[in-house]
Amino acid sequence: MPKDTAFRCTACGASHSKWSGQCETCGAWNTIEEAQPLSERPKALSGRGKAIPLTDLATKAEAPPRTISGVEELDRVLGGGLTAASATLLGGDPGIGKSTLLLQAAARFARGGLKTLYISGEEATAQVQMRAERLGLTESPVALASETNLRDILTTLDQERPQLAVIDSIQTMWLDTLDAAPGSVSQVRAAAHELTNFAKTRGISVILVGHVTKDGQIAGPRVVEHMVDTVLYFEGDRGHQFRLLRSVKNRFGPASEIGVFEMTGRGLAEVKNPSALFLSHRGTPAPGSAVFAGIEGTRPVLCEFQALVAPSPHANPRRTVVGWDGSRLAMILAVLEARAGVPFTGLDVYLNVAGGMRVTEPAADLAVAAALISAREDAALPATHVIWGEISLSGALRPAPQTENRLKEAQKLGFSTAIAPETKKPVQTGLKMRQMADVSDFVEAIFGSR
Ligand code: TYD
Ligand code: MG
Repeated sequence: MPKDTAFRCTACGASHSKWSGQCETCGAWNTIEEAQPLSERPKALSGRGKAIPLTDLATKAEAPPRTISGVEELDRVLGGGLTAASATLLGGDPGIGKSTLLLQAAARFARGGLKTLYISGEEATAQVQMRAERLGLTESPVALASETNLRDILTTLDQERPQLAVIDSIQTMWLDTLDAAPGSVSQVRAAAHELTNFAKTRGISVILVGHVTKDGQIAGPRVVEHMVDTVLYFEGDRGHQFRLLRSVKNRFGPASEIGVFEMTGRGLAEVKNPSALFLSHRGTPAPGSAVFAGIEGTRPVLCEFQALVAPSPHANPRRTVVGWDGSRLAMILAVLEARAGVPFTGLDVYLNVAGGMRVTEPAADLAVAAALISAREDAALPATHVIWGEISLSGALRPAPQTENRLKEAQKLGFSTAIAPETKKPVQTGLKMRQMADVSDFVEAIFGSR
């Protein structure tokens, strides 16, 4: 036997050095077969895979055409509309509104002249039609299909030749050539692979829906992320109407862009001014509240951090966070204690971002610190202040990008003062800037006089 003979699992594609009855990777039985090493197979015929100097390529590459849906919050997150022959994954918790969003988007694309096919593996065509009726989309020329067998879907795509196909959801699709159950890792991976490859060669854009699952039996969207050009997540709190569409990977535009929607009785409505929405329930300034002037993708978004600090009855005081990173909170608490002399020992700490927003930017550090100290001191911050700045372990404040955009948004919403890290570049603004070098300066300047 040649030394480099390998064995491959026909269900999940994993390679093994020796044969066994069960694949260690996917757990399937009797799927391992001997694979002939690539080097011993017949040589490729054409010049495929040949290297071409970058300088020769530069002039030939053209940006692929894009189509605007008219749903601005979606178009922006896609990087300026839907790219032709692209593969997109839309992930999210079950029931968050993925089907609603895509049916609405499909209808808009179709009305704009894009030949669109919506394939549901979860609902019968009649059910999708009822939903469309409820959303007021029945006038739209979008074609519907209900199917889960991939062979039938590929045939339909080949006959219909749509420009956009929505597959809802990838976990319901199955290949009859695989033994595994629909929703298993091998089925999800193989179905996504077939669909994206087929779509690329035929010039069809596909949007795959993927449910985020906590159960290991069903494969989540993560197993497909690397196969597609764009990965979007639809997230939100069931208790709130707001939904955030977030791009986490985008070959055709900036990642970490967000779109904001509101779930209404008649589907998803776009939220054009998220800052106003996230700050809408702010009453008179209370201790523990701080307004963060953040940037999400290319857009400024203001939101409110709320903190509650109380003596703890527990040996290990609680640290509870909603809408922000828990380990980042632990770091801020440690820095406040070590560098600014504000200890939180023996105190329970609760931190929340109002309105169901989830903040990922490190520049939120100073706003979090402000909310925490304000809660601890039982002293409200001035209602006219917005705050941002990243805190380093030394306690120094690092400048954050897009100062002017943050200031403009804050001014638009009626704030008059910004607390921010020192910047070298002068900024033109109608707002008063209070620039700070480190955390202890900040504590002294804002809470020192109390
Ligand atoms: P859905 O799009 O089916 O979620 P997903 O595809 O992510 O599983 O949305 C389901 C929820 O949205 C459901 O709880 C009802 C709610 N909803 C509305 O509030 N208004 C509407 O117009 C629609 C269509 C759904
Ligand atoms: Mg659905």
